[in-house]
Amino acid sequence: MANHLILSLVLVLGFGSVARANVCSELFRESASLDRVWEDGVSTSAWLEAEATLSSLRIRENISRPDGLPGAVIAARTRVNPNYYFHWIRDAGLVIDALLERFDSTTHARGQHIVERHAILKKVFDYMRFSRTIQTTETLTGLGEPKVNVDGTSFNEPWGRPQNDSPAIRAISLIDFARILESNQHRGIIASQLYDGKFPSSSLIKRDLEYVATNWKKPSWDVWEEILGDHFYTRMVQRRALLDGARLAEIQRDSKAAEYYREQGRLVEASLEQFWDPTKGYIVATLPRSPEAAGNWGLDNKHTNLDIAVILGLLHGSRGDGFLKFNNSRVMATLDRLQKTFTEIYPINHRRGIPGIAIGRYPEDAFSGADRSGGNPWVLATLAMGEAYYRAAREMKAENPRRAADLVAKGDSFIARVRYHAHRDGSLNEQFHRASGFMHSVEDLTWSYAALLTAHNARQLAVEP
Ligand code: NOJ
Ligand code: NOJ
Repeated sequence: MANHLILSLVLVLGFGSVARANVCSELFRESASLDRVWEDGVSTSAWLEAEATLSSLRIRENISRPDGLPGAVIAARTRVNPNYYFHWIRDAGLVIDALLERFDSTTHARGQHIVERHAILKKVFDYMRFSRTIQTTETLTGLGEPKVNVDGTSFNEPWGRPQNDSPAIRAISLIDFARILESNQHRGIIASQLYDGKFPSSSLIKRDLEYVATNWKKPSWDVWEEILGDHFYTRMVQRRALLDGARLAEIQRDSKAAEYYREQGRLVEASLEQFWDPTKGYIVATLPRSPEAAGNWGLDNKHTNLDIAVILGLLHGSRGDGFLKFNNSRVMATLDRLQKTFTEIYPINHRRGIPGIAIGRYPEDAFSGADRSGGNPWVLATLAMGEAYYRAAREMKAENPRRAADLVAKGDSFIARVRYHAHRDGSLNEQFHRASGFMHSVEDLTWSYAALLTAHNARQLAVEP
């Protein structure tokens, strides 16, 4: 009897597990075919649309964390190897600006964006307050300091500092916020928080503009925090901050300052000519340092001086005022060279059947995220290529619609490339591996999502009637 019971238990259990195994493999087959539907059936533009919604959310999750002050934007959640749990002034400004662009572009959108738009504004207000706090925190290099702790205290360990793109990018983000406030009849906030027109100033934007206007000629550390010098990226964002700032100064009836910012902005603009290298045939990232320069100038292995930072400078520094358009032959030559070079150096670019090209920071890059064991393609770099082609398409749209369509298709190939390497749930790291193609280095880099948002917006502007 007992044996009988045991036998039937074994049978039932045994049968049960066989049945479970069947169900599992059924489910597995189903989800595998779901993947296929996803892969084949969803267009690049539909993926980009969905990914933009996710990106806006992921960005907001990285602002005002419970263990920091409201308005601190973490670069990523990772705290070790590398520690990205800081408010980088550059990353934060770019991220906020991308959110504001999203806010602007959803103005006439369907009701579903109401909650998102409200949430964006709340984060931007927090960011404005946090920026006020850290602007008056004593740091090692004053307003050129690249990052601070999320509780608003200064970061005093050795680092490449100052990074003079930072205050320019912060000013750009806040000037854009001022523009939104202005068009929504909130001018009082501009005068009290953002631009007071006094000298010395105690308001956010004017402080940064004064710093940029008086320091732009001095060498500082580059966007990758690796070399001290005069950089195309830094100058591009300084130019935009000064010229956009001049306009705001005028609105705030600070005409002397407006004149000064405009004059300095034009000088920065003229200096940008020097970055075109006719022998190399592309725009270089950093001007050669003078032979007598002594001291710590950082890494000295960047022999090609070819760098996606140039394209990022054009994207983040663009004012749509006709200066260095994306269809400019020098810009196109630089875009071409970046693609050729990264096609050669990354094994993942030699695999057939994957759309687009994986793009890194610069060919000599060795930073793996944790150490210097080898550089990889970056999500934000690959997305920047796509965005540059979308912006070129928009410039061409009226004049040459056929060429514009080709440029959109070219841009799409880079988006498809990022989609191919992205996590299935849409999460984006900082890098993807040069040989295996798997997402690599820090997870959920806030800037990766900002790059996705601006690429999405640029595509919309390129294709809308
Ligand atoms: C940290 C910097 O943020 C990164 O850009 C750089 O490549 C590494 N340090 C190595 O220098
Ligand atoms: C390293 C990048 O080189 C730098 O540009 C960025 O600010 C930090 N990581 C934080 O994301």
